[in-house]
Amino acid sequence: MQDHHVNVGILGLGTVGTGVARILLTQQDLLRTRSALTFTLHTIVELNWDKERDLDLSGVECITDAQKMLENPEIDIIVETIGGYEPAFTFIATALRNRKHVVTANKALIATRGRELFQIAKENGVDLLFEASVGGGIPIIKGLREGLVANQIERVYGILNGTSNYILTRMHQEELEFGQALAEAQAKGFAEADPTLDVSGGDAAHKLTILASIAASGFVNYQDLYIEGIQNITKLDINFAKSFGYTIKLLAVMRRMENGLDLRVHPTLVPNNHLLAAVNNELNAVFVKGDFVGNTMFYGPGAGERPTASSIVSDIVDLSRDLLLKEGEQFSCRTLNPEQGIPVVPVEQIRNRFYLRFFTLDAPGILSKISGVLAQNGISISSMVQLETHGKDNYVPIVLLTHEASEQAMKQALDAIGKFDFIQENYLRIRLF
Ligand SMILES: NC(=O)c1ccc[n+]([C@@H]2O[C@H](COP(=O)([O-])OP(=O)(O)OC[C@H]3O[C@@H](n4cnc5c(N)ncnc54)[C@H](OP(=O)(O)O)[C@@H]3O)[C@@H](O)[C@H]2O)c1
Repeated sequence: MQDHHVNVGILGLGTVGTGVARILLTQQDLLRTRSALTFTLHTIVELNWDKERDLDLSGVECITDAQKMLENPEIDIIVETIGGYEPAFTFIATALRNRKHVVTANKALIATRGRELFQIAKENGVDLLFEASVGGGIPIIKGLREGLVANQIERVYGILNGTSNYILTRMHQEELEFGQALAEAQAKGFAEADPTLDVSGGDAAHKLTILASIAASGFVNYQDLYIEGIQNITKLDINFAKSFGYTIKLLAVMRRMENGLDLRVHPTLVPNNHLLAAVNNELNAVFVKGDFVGNTMFYGPGAGERPTASSIVSDIVDLSRDLLLKEGEQFSCRTLNPEQGIPVVPVEQIRNRFYLRFFTLDAPGILSKISGVLAQNGISISSMVQLETHGKDNYVPIVLLTHEASEQAMKQALDAIGKFDFIQENYLRIRLF
């Protein structure tokens, strides 16, 4: 077979960009054997060339002007690893308009402005691939798009944010409070200096938007998701969950319903005997139920230079096969159609079981008042624990597990319970798996 060359350009030589460069420079023979293509790292655009990097870039054009690379007709594929919204959006749009295929790991951009980018790709007959945007090194997008192509995807449950999972794991294993576990995650490099997007559930929601869009072959609006983070979980909640046989995880949930998708990211009590309860530390996992395959689980490293670069290079090879076959039709737009909006079911219409934790004054009749309000809203209790030890300011914790109830009913009940003067403000509701 004739040897075909593919020239690759990288935008942004940070953690992920460096990994991609490393693979393209060191795994050339392996990639050629497996794909019959020769990949050349042609150009890298980076603003700061003074940074110490453990890479031999001789023979690679190293520049600071993105426009120069985006206009270079010799470059076939652009890898965007700058991150953020701008200038990443403009660079990707320009590359697509210049009829270059693009690979990105930028989940925030794909989730919030992907629709515009896929439209531009479609109009220009090129492709935009994004395997590394969800689950780092786990081939979950390929898994959904190709491996499970014959299935209607009924359910997706994902542990999609390594930082939150690391924090919750440490809280479980070492009985740390949230702040202590976060500080440890930052010290070990698993959490950013500003961890807001990770612990608030926003990052997992970006990834869920992408997975749900693929599963539904359309485009989900990120703004339609219900999102709650892990900031209010305490050591006490972790211990109560343990005593009931559960592990608390930040779960991204997609369920196919009659009138659309149920899409949520929130802390969840996962039964200890479920595979997802055993996904610990910074690792990610995605549990997928298809109508023909049944239950499957994808598991592995959700971030890091090498795993993320591994996914990006798999996209580069896929795109190159298309180039070789001169297909001209983009498969990312076929599985994730920018022209097809997907309705999301409002969270109020969803039914869940709940864990409720209150701090109340230690006085008679309190429990019956709480259970009375729950009953008025059609919510019944399945288990209850009241600790005798007094917490801060003489308040005692009460924890309840409920049977299934609507989110709307639970909201009404909590609004009413929150008004009782014997209740401390910081009560908590966590959904059960
Ligand atoms: N890190 C991971 O494990 C991981 C996993 C999955 C997905 N991702 C995604 O991958 C993307 C990159 O993440 P990362 O961790 O590699 O980020 P990073 O380490 O901050 O790298 C970004 C690089 O781009 C450079 N850059 C910024 N603006 C530029 C511009 N206008 N032109 C050229 N270069 C520019 C930065 O240079 P300066 O440092 O000089 O600003 C930096 O070297 C993000 O979208 C992220 O969400 C990351």
